[in-house]
Amino acid sequence: MDTQARLDALLAHFETHSKTFAGYPVNQNFDYSALLPFLRYSANNVGDPFHGSNFQINSHEMEREVVGRFSDLMRIPREDAWGYVTSGGSEGNMYGLYMAREIFPDGVFYFSQDTHYSVLKILRILKARHIMVKSQKNGEVDYDDLYEMVRIHRDAPVIFMANVGTTMKGAIDDISKMRGILDDLAVTDSYIHADAALSGMILPFVDDPQLYGFDAGVDSVAVSGHKMIGSPVPCGIALTKRAYVNRISRSIEYVGVLDTTLSGSRSAFTPIMLWYAFQLHGLDGFKRMVQQSLEVAEYAVNRFNDSGIPAWRHKNSITVVFPKPSEEIIHKWQLASYENIAHVITMPHITREVVDAVVDDCLADSRQRAVQ
Ligand SMILES: Cc1ncc(COP(=O)(O)O)c(C=O)c1O
Repeated sequence: MDTQARLDALLAHFETHSKTFAGYPVNQNFDYSALLPFLRYSANNVGDPFHGSNFQINSHEMEREVVGRFSDLMRIPREDAWGYVTSGGSEGNMYGLYMAREIFPDGVFYFSQDTHYSVLKILRILKARHIMVKSQKNGEVDYDDLYEMVRIHRDAPVIFMANVGTTMKGAIDDISKMRGILDDLAVTDSYIHADAALSGMILPFVDDPQLYGFDAGVDSVAVSGHKMIGSPVPCGIALTKRAYVNRISRSIEYVGVLDTTLSGSRSAFTPIMLWYAFQLHGLDGFKRMVQQSLEVAEYAVNRFNDSGIPAWRHKNSITVVFPKPSEEIIHKWQLASYENIAHVITMPHITREVVDAVVDDCLADSRQRAVQ
């Protein structure tokens, strides 16, 4: 096959499979074609977006605006916040946990069984002391187990990894209960990192959100950009308190930057995309998008249940959990599955018609398995 034929084939593959993409939290509805001219340049956002750089083909200015937008959403005054556009939610988690480790080198990290897999890997890389705490059946951390673990290790600073929407069940750890544990046990040295990969772009837009932001006492937050907002290139945001960042910054003469980010060379394109998405949709547009996804999630729960397939979701969550279907269905709809459950995530590209098709397939599948 010649080059063009290979590219055409891959494009057709993308096109086909994006039509049956129901299991991962990645919005397929976007149009960044206005930004195509930027791909002609070797731009690079190396270094701290709030500091100068010798590398002038960058989008630091837009990146600062994106950080400002997320500061508003995550409820921290812009002047008190610091952040940057990451390669995704995992890098944001790494940033938050690294920051915590720098502040409390002897701290113990606590995270639940339902926490995203990136966290255990990060803690291993950081060689940080960590304890995996039990989860409840609904995916939230088991607060009794958390209390007990902290009580036993009371001599060490406490670093909580709060899930603001777990990967499989969309469960949100109750940050006020976590803070209650710290108060009860008179813990003075503590840090809370919130992994808000998906729900960080949902909760700011609902009427009655669970706790998630800096006003609830978190010290850093990670949100993915390619999830709810949607983008053709993975991206995200790491956000923390400006006062913390000095602990890790180093001046690098070679590129004239302040080295406060995890990666060196960084995409200049993803901050432009996120900036553009905020310009295009505005907060009202995001609110409508979130509302629509929540409505479709509720529709999906009802359709599954009406069909005799038990399905559920958490409040303010678009993650619809149901019993794991056959491998064939999982493959067809690209569903995420874990042990005996699977989920559909009603991202903006998932319409009621798509939900109908998934439910019909699952129903046919369960009937077929019943007769076997
Ligand atoms: C709860 C949670 N945290 C972190 C991540 C990782 O995000 P990313 O894929 O953007 O690195 C995910 C991805 O699904 C997630 O669900």
